[in-house]
Amino acid sequence: MLGTDIAIDLGTSSVKIYLDGKGIVLNEPAIVSVNLETDEVVATGKEAYAMVGRTSSKIRVCHPLSGGVVSNFDLAKCLIETYLRKISASRVVMPRVVVSVPCKITEVEKRAVVDVISSSGVRKICLIEEPVAAAMGANVDISAPHGTLVVDIGGGTTDMAVLSLSGIAISRSVKVAGDAFDAAIIKYIRRKYNLIIGQRMAEACKIAIGCVFPRKEILTFRVKGRNAMTGLPQWADISSDEALEALIDSAMQMIRVLQEMLEKTPPELMGDIYSDGMIVTGGSAQLYGFDQLLAKKTKMPVHVADDPQDCVAVGAGKAIKFIDDMENKTYGVLNPLSAAY
Ligand SMILES: Nc1ncnc2c1ncn2[C@@H]1O[C@H](COP(=O)(O)OP(=O)(O)OP(=O)(O)O)[C@@H](O)[C@H]1O
Ligand SMILES: [Mg+2]
Repeated sequence: MLGTDIAIDLGTSSVKIYLDGKGIVLNEPAIVSVNLETDEVVATGKEAYAMVGRTSSKIRVCHPLSGGVVSNFDLAKCLIETYLRKISASRVVMPRVVVSVPCKITEVEKRAVVDVISSSGVRKICLIEEPVAAAMGANVDISAPHGTLVVDIGGGTTDMAVLSLSGIAISRSVKVAGDAFDAAIIKYIRRKYNLIIGQRMAEACKIAIGCVFPRKEILTFRVKGRNAMTGLPQWADISSDEALEALIDSAMQMIRVLQEMLEKTPPELMGDIYSDGMIVTGGSAQLYGFDQLLAKKTKMPVHVADDPQDCVAVGAGKAIKFIDDMENKTYGVLNPLSAAY
């Protein structure tokens, strides 16, 4: 079976598949669009993403995964099947799979993830907790008796954890991440300019000029939408300082949860973290100034991982080599995988 095992990161924004020996072979939006009259799936992934905010009364765009858990079983199954079929052209037959899951999900939610994937004909499924995978993907040695703090800021959730000995010492998960930043921009522009913009426009604005720490040089971005009073088309030029005003509350909400977790972290691990600093991963780690804001508020060094949005998938991919130990119940191995089905 060499070379046929895979790892899947079921994100709120995108699904990433890692093929053993090859790296990330698929990265597609976790979106499905459905024909409301026939209940048929009309598009998945990039094609469905192009329909966001542009649907007719016949089509609905759905996110079957939210916060790393399955919110619509049938659509999630369809999405996974489509993606596994896409990569199976490159000879993956009944693979063994490592799937990343948020650390604070219930047994029922875990079971739903396992059922969705096993119904696509997968032989063996192992779970890995997202912060563990994120740290491995950022090249941290997590097997040592040494504390590591990881903060993964994704699309739907921010997962934060202190790791030691390949496991989680303490963790928190909060539903404030990329989607909440988009929503904050939509709300701000509506309130200040009476202008209604769509989610894709808000995301583009966030990526172009968004920041949670003042930029050295002020940037602007033109948002286009509809006036809430007149219903007519309207645009506004938004500056990066306005974006900061829109985003700072959500960022602080997330940092307060982190501070609360740090207050409860055992002192020995805290000592390790204070000298090493924290690792930040996830797509939203790229938001301008997040590292500076985190460093200012926690008074510790902050390192944003290279290619932060890929860390969870790459880390889950690195954990593929532990599947054998999980199957054979090898003792004396600190296994980063958390469960096998
Ligand atoms: N340059 C950027 N600046 C700010 N945000 C960005 C940038 N690039 C991507 N993002 C945001 O990153 C988020 C996606 O990140 P990621 O792929 O880590 O999420 P996910 O794993 O699908 O979600 P989750 O982990 O919450 O389930 C989106 O909200 C996207 O808008
Ligand atoms: Mg993620």
